[in-house]
Amino acid sequence: MTSPALWYATRATGIVALVLFTATVGLGALTASRVQSHAWPGFAQQELHRRVSLLAIAFLGVHIATSVLDSFVHIGWVAVVVPFTSRYKTAWVGVGTVAFDMMQAVALSSLLRHRIPATAWRSVHWLGYLSWPVALAHGIAIGTDGSEPWVRWLTVACVATVAAAAAARALVTARWRRAAVAAAPAPVVPTTRLVARASRSALATAAVIAASAGPGASQRRSP
Ligand code: HEM
Repeated sequence: MTSPALWYATRATGIVALVLFTATVGLGALTASRVQSHAWPGFAQQELHRRVSLLAIAFLGVHIATSVLDSFVHIGWVAVVVPFTSRYKTAWVGVGTVAFDMMQAVALSSLLRHRIPATAWRSVHWLGYLSWPVALAHGIAIGTDGSEPWVRWLTVACVATVAAAAAARALVTARWRRAAVAAAPAPVVPTTRLVARASRSALATAAVIAASAGPGASQRRSP
């Protein structure tokens, strides 16, 4: 099956998916950095992040389906999950598949969030940041519309958004670390160690006194 409609749909949904994916990454970074206000509290940011990510996945689903259904290009369903198996533009479709696989891991770990350790969920979620530039490279390299001025400006806006979000996130994390170090209580030394330390200094002091008194001192005291 092939028709210009499928091709247009692949291109349009690819661009929309990238924009929504950019918004997802930006909102994720904002949520994680806990920058919030009364008008836009943390739970609202989280909910928006979740919904926008679902919308991105929906557009991505259509993007992938139309690209595979379009028999003008030979991609095949296997290439949707196994990178570099597409007959059409093997390398750059493969890069899109790598981004999609990383996104699937992020989505799956979020579905299982309450059943897996928080550290495991967080580690997998970092793949979200990694998959974004991979998806961007796929879009730039393979897209028909990449040379259109409006697509170029949209790409620049996407890069600026993610760069600003990542920088804000890194800045806030660095500030937290500094505040945590400043607020850390003085180290607690166990009592036994204090007693041992005191005895050692007492013995050392006694030894110094004994040495400074010399052998004559004890002789002077003897009758
Ligand atoms: C995170 C995943 C992905 C994102 C965000 C994404 C996004 C994009 C974008 C922005 C374009 C450029 C559209 C244009 O300028 O014309 C594009 C093109 C394309 N993508 Fe994806 N894509 C992803 C994954 C995939 C996968 C897994 C496949 C196939 C299995 C695929 C197949 C294609 C094809 C065939 C084109 C070329 C369409 C054309 O002829 O212009 N993409 N994609």
